[in-house]
This record gives sequence, C-alpha cells and structure tokens, in this order.
Amino acid sequence: MKYGHFDDSNKEYVISHPMTPTPWINYLGNHGFYGLISQIGGGYTFYEDAKLRRITRYRYNQIPTDYSGRFYYLRDEQDIWNPGFLPMKTKLDDYKCRHGMGYSIIESKKNDVSTSLKFFIPLDEYLEIHQMVIKNESDVDKKIDLYSYTEWNLWNAVDDQTNFQRNLNIGEVEIDSQTIYHKTEYRERRNHYAFYHVNQDICGYDTDRATFLGLYRGLHEPEVVLNNKSKQSVASGGSPIASHHLQINLKPNEEKTIVFLLGYVENDDVDKFDELNQINKIHAKKLISKYSDLTKIEQAFRDLKEYWEKTLNKYQVDSNDDKLNRMVNIWHQYQLMATFNLSRSASYYESGTGRGIGFRDSCQDILGFVHMVPEKTKERLIDLASIQFKDGSTYHQYQPLTKMGNADIGTGFNDDPLWLVAATSAYIKETGDYDILNIKVPFNNEKGTEEPLFNHLKASIRFTLSHLGPHGLPLIGRADWNDCLNLNCFSEEPGESFQTSENKSFGRAESVFIAGMFVKYGLEYVDICKRYQKEDEAAYVNAEIEKMKTHTKTFGWDDKWFLRAYDAFGHKVGSNENQEGKIYVEPQGFCVMADIGSKSQQEQALASVDQYLKNDYGVELLYPPYTKYHIELGEISSYPPGYKENGSVFNHNNPWIVIAYTMLDKANEAFDIYKRNAPAYIEDISDIHKTEPYVYSQTIAGRSAKNYGEAKNSWLTGTAAWTYIAMSQHILGIRPHFDGLEIDPVIPSHLDHIVIKRQFRNCNFEIKIIRDETKKGSMTVNGKTYDRKLIVIDKSIKRYDVIAYV
Ligand code: GLC
Ligand code: GLC
Repeated sequence: MKYGHFDDSNKEYVISHPMTPTPWINYLGNHGFYGLISQIGGGYTFYEDAKLRRITRYRYNQIPTDYSGRFYYLRDEQDIWNPGFLPMKTKLDDYKCRHGMGYSIIESKKNDVSTSLKFFIPLDEYLEIHQMVIKNESDVDKKIDLYSYTEWNLWNAVDDQTNFQRNLNIGEVEIDSQTIYHKTEYRERRNHYAFYHVNQDICGYDTDRATFLGLYRGLHEPEVVLNNKSKQSVASGGSPIASHHLQINLKPNEEKTIVFLLGYVENDDVDKFDELNQINKIHAKKLISKYSDLTKIEQAFRDLKEYWEKTLNKYQVDSNDDKLNRMVNIWHQYQLMATFNLSRSASYYESGTGRGIGFRDSCQDILGFVHMVPEKTKERLIDLASIQFKDGSTYHQYQPLTKMGNADIGTGFNDDPLWLVAATSAYIKETGDYDILNIKVPFNNEKGTEEPLFNHLKASIRFTLSHLGPHGLPLIGRADWNDCLNLNCFSEEPGESFQTSENKSFGRAESVFIAGMFVKYGLEYVDICKRYQKEDEAAYVNAEIEKMKTHTKTFGWDDKWFLRAYDAFGHKVGSNENQEGKIYVEPQGFCVMADIGSKSQQEQALASVDQYLKNDYGVELLYPPYTKYHIELGEISSYPPGYKENGSVFNHNNPWIVIAYTMLDKANEAFDIYKRNAPAYIEDISDIHKTEPYVYSQTIAGRSAKNYGEAKNSWLTGTAAWTYIAMSQHILGIRPHFDGLEIDPVIPSHLDHIVIKRQFRNCNFEIKIIRDETKKGSMTVNGKTYDRKLIVIDKSIKRYDVIAYV
C-alpha cells in the first residue's frame, strides 16, 4: 500500500494521507542551521549541534507520536483545525504534504478555506521561513482566527529534558509587538537568542505554555484556541512558548500571504544589551526587515531550488527505468546531503543528544557525497583527520560545535583509521587535488603537532600494521564496522555500553573485515604514494598488502565463504563450525571488493550469500541469527533474532554485495540485490516497510523477526553513500579514477537505453551506453575508437562524448 506518490518533475514526494505508518520527515537547511519536519509539521530546529543549540523542543517517546512541532490552528465559525492535521486531528477536506529538496509544503483545505504552508531555510541564513497562503474559496466573507504555536527548548536538549529543578525557574522571553524573543540564559553566559515573528498585526499572543494550554490539557485542546482568546501571558520560568493570534478577514476568492520567521542570532559579548538592558535586537530586526519583503522570500526560494539543481546535476541519468532515474537523479543524492551534514546525530531515531560527527560514518558519507560539494568534503576531511592521534588511532566521534574528539566514546574501533584513507582517496579521485595532502593538520587538535595530511594517512596504514593478531590479521579492538561485534568486551553488567566498556586485556580478537579493508584501501594508498613521489613507501606497503592477502586466504577462508573473525580465544566467528552466526555478510562483500582469493572462491562466497542470507528485501547480515547471548561476541547477540546487527537486512552492507557481483560481471544478480531495498522499488509496500518510501532506513527486519520486512531508523545511514556508489560507479559504472574517469558499466538486462551526464573536474561528459553484442566492451570517445576504460583528462578538452557498448 502507498500513502503518496513521487512527483519527479518537481523532485518531490507527495504524501496524500497525514496518517503515515511512522512520521515521514524531511530536512530543511544546509549550512549549520537545520530543521526536521514531518508530514504534519512536527519536528524541531537547531543551530549546528542538535544537543547544545536546540532551538525548539521535541519530546521523545511521546504518545501520541509527533506532537511536538510548528503548529498552526485555524478557526472559522464552525470548526478548529490544523492545516497539517495534527494536533487537533479535525478531518480535512483535502491534504497533501510535498517533501522537496530542502523544503516542505503542506497544502490543505477545510470549509472552503485553503492553505498552503511552505517551510524552508534560505541558503546561508539562520532562519526558518513558514509562509502561509490562505484563501477563501467560498462565495461568502470569511473571518478566520489563526494561532501559531512553537515551544522553545532551553538550548541544551539533554539538560532541557532532565534538569527540571533548575530549568523551571530560568525561562525568559521578551515580546516586541509581532516578535517573540527567547532569551533564556542570555542574561549571563549565552550570547545567542532566538525569535519567532509574524509579518502582520496581531491581536494577542502567549508565551507561557501552561497558560496557553490550560490545566491538564494537550496540544489537541489548547484553552486559548478553544476559547478564542489569547491571554498575553509572559513566561517567567516554566515552559516558554511562542504563539501569535491573528484575525484574518477574507472576501470570496481573496487570498493573503502571512509569513512567520523563526530565527537564531548571535551577538558579540560587548554588544549583547541595548540601553534598556533588553536584548540588542539589531541583527534580528535586519533579518526580519529583509524577509518582510515577499519578493525576497521568493528569491530565496528560487536560490534554494537552483542550488539543488546545480548540485544534483553533477550526475544525471536518463534510462528506460523510471525508478532508477528517480533514485540516481534525486533521492540517492538528496539523502546523501542529509547524512553528510548530520552524520548520525539528528533524525527521528537519532535523538540529536548523543552521537556527534562519527569518524567512520562521515568518511563513508564522503565516498558518496564528494562529487556534490567537494569543498565541504575537504573541510570535513581536515576536521576528521584532526581527531586522529599520532599513532594513527582516532577518536570515534567529534562534537560539531567544538570539533574536539569525544572523550566519552574514546578510541579503539580499529577500522576507523583506514576509512580516512578511503575518504581522502575518494576526494583526490574526484577532484585531482593532491595539494590536500600537503595541508598541515594537527593530531588530536593539539597546537604544534601539525603535519601534512599525507602523514595522517601513513599513520592510519601503520596503525593496522602495528595491530596484527596471532594469524597476522588486524586486531579488531572494540569493534570494526560492525559496532556490535565486541569480541574483547565480555560484558556482564546490565546497561553497560558494549562499545565503551573496558576491553579485556588478553583480547587478541582479529577481524577478517579489516583485512579486506586494508587490502582495498591499502592499494589506493599505494596509488596515492606513487603519484606523490613516495616510491619507497609504495613498495613497502605493497609488500604488506601481499602478506595480508596471504593471511586472509590462509586463515580467513572457511571452505565456502570468508570467515568473519577470530574471537579473543582464537576461535572462529562466522564459520560453518559455529552453531549460530555461521556466515556474515561483511567479509563476503569486502574481500571480494578487495579481490582477495581466486575467482572461484569469490563466486563461491557470493553463492553462499545467495543461499543463506538473501531474503525478499536484500541480504541479511548473518545467518542463522543468535538466539542466546554469547558473552564472547558482545552486543550482536543481545538483539532479538532478525533485528539490527543480529540478522536484519542491514542496508549499509547490501551494496558491498552489489559491487562484488559487478566485479564478477554478474549484472543481473547485482541489480537484483539493489532493487530489493531501493526505496523507489518498494514504495508499494509502505504499510509493511513503514518508514519513508523516498529514503533508505538502516535496517529491515529479517526473516526470523516477527515483523519481517519492517524498516527502522530512516535517513541517517551509511546506506545512502554505499547504495549510490554501487549504482552510479559500479552498475552504471562511471567511476572517478586518480587520472580521469573510468567507464565500466555492468548493466542488467532490462536496461536498454542509458545516457549519463557527468560533470567531472570541469569537464562535461555525456556517456551513452548501448547494447550491441558485436561491439561489446568497446568504446568511442569524441567519435574515435578508444581501447581503454579510463579516459585520462586532457585539460584542453571540455566536453567528452562517449559511447560505451555493452
Ligand atoms: C551504525 C553505525 C555505523 C556502524 C553500523 C554497524 O550504522 O553508525 O558506524 O558501522 O551501525 O554496526
Ligand atoms: C548500537 C547499534 C549500532 C550503532 C551503535 C552506535 O550498537 O546496534 O548499530 O552503531 O549502537 O553506538
């Protein structure tokens, strides 16, 4: 069943029923100021860091769900309703929510009053615009009361939800005609405030939640709205809110545009107050006056649209499969921007209060995102490398506001350092910018420790080489990519974190997955060394890679598939010898991607994936799932069978299998796995899948779960990057290379018409992929036959017309 449809020409998903199985959200904002917004207007807004600078309040785990947000109440003589349906849930005559690129529009109608509510954040502003066009579609005069509602968060989102003994005393606001200012803690140590403004005269306001709602009432029955009378409450402690009351008279067919602005401002410390000891509002007033002009708002919206056109246009495909076009041209790339911006911090499942910018996660996001905004990835790479230690180990996360490594989580995830090599390599392949390797970057953000980025990569490689276990395979540490495979943890303490608890000192557990990573990214490092005049280093690391391959072939192969690991006692994990968890997906994907083992071993590994792990929605992480807790394996066996790392379809590693298939030239098998969980292909089962049909979720419950097929944790997942890489670089096969662009399509049989437009290093490529048995494998470039896959960029040529025959 569907709850809406894709509108590709507008690049939107149009939700036609407000009661989606879970809140279906979108992201507003791009440059440090963000809003999460659901199909009913739920969600919240923050500046830079969803924990430390939360502007509006969101209540987690609330019932009913999603009753925190930006709400508008409309009232005519008969009814009260919300254009987004919630919180009143008054039946609407019409409802649509369009989630587009950086904006959402809720269009609805009740009693011949139609509203279109557009939400967006202009590029480079700390300002959320809510523009309401309200129209009287009847033939009689209408008198409408409009109430706005938003609830302030007292900045630190964790403190806000826990420290009531203090917080109920400190809430402060200022009211200045149509603008309500939130200034809790501004008096002393904060230099920032927020405001909520409306561009029309108001006939009342409220800023105290208890007064607005009335005793023991919810947002579905606020006393002020029900009695149609604002109370001019001024919050003093308690829960500060902002609500305006407007009266709107509309003649038949008349429409009015009302603009609400939700903004964030920082003042210099010396300039915080005006002469009356109130907030110095100069910056807010400037913003308000700029956007009191409707043409400025229109312009800002056009700019946003253009920005997205330009960003998405770097890679566009036109094929005979509409769903594929939709994924590649719009939704893959759109989700990538959100994952890149927010890492795994703020979604409806990541509360924004815990995780900062993840090292491993962000590095992988870069792999997919780098072509879209290379300058942003460059900055991110430097930030990430700055939380690395001199021995190559890294903090696992950093806080976006301070950019300092997060000591609560610490280090010890032994795959982390190699992801820096992967991401830097992807950046160089996209941009050709080797100068990045010369940029001086500190270790652990300490002044005076700066060394060229190249040395950070070298430290990463050295880290693996200096942390090898009894079989010559990399030590796993706290965990590798699989956060829940905690082989040195042995946790018996309820509630203890499997990732951060003290590892047992005897732990010598090894990871076949990291071995695969080392071979794959080690080779890319060697490629970089060769182009960076480090021949000796290249030769040395090459020899180490050969050794790692040998160790993996000798100790990492389990007869019919690659082993997953050795535990702290040297026992096999992910082996046919095990009763549960016999086969894991990660090493099958990564070792084939790293080209370890013979072709027949690789084919055998994928055949085993097909036999044991494949289900209707992709491939499961392991088989059979653990039914009891294995203390020597850690968190993985703590999840019920079929969920999360214990045997769900963990979407993130499905594309590794897709890529592995393309490397063995198995186009249909590759595409078959891709389409089992690519959002556009499974829109029809939204009632089973439950999360947004336009983006990937982290997991889909596996066969052994009760709710087989139900997805969880949408939006912020490395799936966004890897599925896009699998499709754009390996199936469609347009792949950045150190020296140019490689054209290497592995095309499934249902595709017979493909044209790809790719902007690459200031050149425009138009690549036609044509099915022709007689010319299969050959290529022409600008009319001439060409016998290699790699097109080396010639700076004097700006346009490449390529025909690739498959
Ligand atoms: C989560 C984490 C990611 C990890 C994965 C598997 O998605 O963000 O870092 O690799 O889980 O455990
Ligand atoms: C849990 C999750 C895993 C996630 C980790 C983050 O272990 O299962 O997916 O990466 O938490 O700390």
